[in-house]
Amino acid sequence: MRLDKLLGNNGFGTRKDVKQLIRKGTVRVNGMTEKDPGSHVDPEKDSVDVLGEPVIHQEFIYIMMNKPPGVISATEDKWDQTVIDLLSENEQRFEPFPVGRLDKDTEGLLLITNDGKLTHELLSPKKDIPKTYYAKIEGVVNEDDVAAFKEGVTLEDGYHTKPGFLTIIASDSISEIELTITEGKFHQVKRMFEAVDKNVVYLKRLTMGNLLLDESLELGHYRELTVEELNEVDPRKKG
Ligand code: URA
Repeated sequence: MRLDKLLGNNGFGTRKDVKQLIRKGTVRVNGMTEKDPGSHVDPEKDSVDVLGEPVIHQEFIYIMMNKPPGVISATEDKWDQTVIDLLSENEQRFEPFPVGRLDKDTEGLLLITNDGKLTHELLSPKKDIPKTYYAKIEGVVNEDDVAAFKEGVTLEDGYHTKPGFLTIIASDSISEIELTITEGKFHQVKRMFEAVDKNVVYLKRLTMGNLLLDESLELGHYRELTVEELNEVDPRKKG
């Protein structure tokens, strides 16, 4: 990797700033001053410091966000604010992207990373990663719905879903439920309820695999995953 890229990626300023730092002779590679911004370094093997401060190389970033409504799960959008716009420059320089999509009006757990392999593991339909949602439903949700979801329901386009595990928290004119599904089809939870003639009026994701929403995060707030959370969420680490 180019020396200027390594410094830029690790918080030492813009590409222009770091070029200046390097040309001024403030950067050492393996103890030797290096004045060429284009010189090649191996972040795993070479030790680099700026004015004596070691450069700690971080390749990946893993962020948990409590997604607010009104924001799009995408890296950019012509009209709407995206979840990436909510991150500070410090996180944006890793060029992260959301792992899957929550609808604009859905809240809750969203993992944001630049780790493409982990993203693939979590989104691959073959892996059956469970996701649990809390929802408010217009209409009385009952045991027939629980039974229907357990068998999978047929969506309006003819697709028959995998089983969903429905727990009724409150059954009233507005019911409250939790639903665990292992798929991520477009508008899946909303369409599963439409299949039993009910309407989702509020939707929030609580879990993805072994990762649980940190309820102390306010809507629109985020933090990096802990090492334990990262180990828990990564199916490759479970063997
Ligand atoms: N299912 C939906 O209908 N919407 C979401 O945002 C997530 C799951």
